[in-house]
Amino acid sequence: MPKLNEHYQNLKESYLFSEIAHRVAAYSQAHPDQKIIRLGIGDVTLPLTSMAIDGLHEGVDAMASSETFKGYGPEQGYEFLRDAIAGYYERNGVPMDAADIFISDGAKSDTGNISELFSADNVILIPDPVYPVYVDSNIMSGKQVTYLSGNAENQFLPMPDHRVHADIIYLCSPNNPTGAVYNREQLKEWVDYALKEHAVILFDSAYEAFITDPALPRSIYAIEGAKKCAIEFGSLSKTAGFTGTRCGYTVVPRELVFPTSDGRELSLHAMWNRRQSTKFNGTSYIIQKGAAAVFTEEGMAQCMEHIHYYQENARMISETLSRKGIRFFGGIHSPYIWFECPDGMESWEFFDYLLNKAQIVGTPGAGFGENGKNYFRLTSFGEHGKA
Ligand code: MLT
Repeated sequence: MPKLNEHYQNLKESYLFSEIAHRVAAYSQAHPDQKIIRLGIGDVTLPLTSMAIDGLHEGVDAMASSETFKGYGPEQGYEFLRDAIAGYYERNGVPMDAADIFISDGAKSDTGNISELFSADNVILIPDPVYPVYVDSNIMSGKQVTYLSGNAENQFLPMPDHRVHADIIYLCSPNNPTGAVYNREQLKEWVDYALKEHAVILFDSAYEAFITDPALPRSIYAIEGAKKCAIEFGSLSKTAGFTGTRCGYTVVPRELVFPTSDGRELSLHAMWNRRQSTKFNGTSYIIQKGAAAVFTEEGMAQCMEHIHYYQENARMISETLSRKGIRFFGGIHSPYIWFECPDGMESWEFFDYLLNKAQIVGTPGAGFGENGKNYFRLTSFGEHGKA
């Protein structure tokens, strides 16, 4: 009889967005004539840009001829894409070595899988509220998590407690779900703390393209010293509308070398390479061609037009909340708007209320952690006039 990984019993019964989809499907079935406004999962609605489509077509055409056909690709991803991503960092003022970049099928997989590189006896700090993948992936492997409290008092931007040691720190900025963004001084404090504690920061920058203020850091590597203490996860999902197309990247600097218990050294870059080459056969050539087109100057300018469209949605939602006197967070450098549920309602109760009374789907804050239980998240990824 197999002995099962019983840590799975410590998870909630279903993944947050599966639970929402299930409830919405049940509502739709019971009310087939009701039009539902979907502001729940952060899924884009605009089609891919013409540059991305041209890149994908090029990739497809290459597969049709024996001269250009591609089989298994290089393990870290094609050089043309890693160079294009490094170029994007450089244009944003952040030095980047393409050799540190690994191409993947998205930040969700990488932020979930990265915990395999760390043993169970680390002190792992994870903000609450937070993208549920960080917590669930650690629970699945039986790891203990210490929560960093994000709340209205600290503007949902928890800072290090210098009296407490940490080994692994998850940060997401602009934040999912709260939309809060760390400024340069705050991120520097985290980097300095990580360097002092010999900790690793796992930095999720999936929403960096939504930052409009050039003074705000779009990458942890905008902070001096971060290459010695941080891994960064990037994504094309929200930047380029690749939620269904799937492509992301993870930067694991070769500087990240730590001692082992027997006095040798292990490189996180080498470990991640070993992990990925064993368990992952890479993102398809076709998708990587589409992704490379995204990171050209013209490709990114097209993506920014889409982001401006979503930012306009965020402005409309924020304005409505302001008019109603509801305090909210995010919505400026982020596609997410985060607010306290009215009348002391708990978030799943408010979810049901909003769905039944206004046919609007949002995401209950409880799905992001205990601190979210009275909060609610709306996304700006809908369509004008439809959502
Ligand atoms: C969200 O709605 O939080 C995101 O779309 C989920 C994801 O990126 O996996």
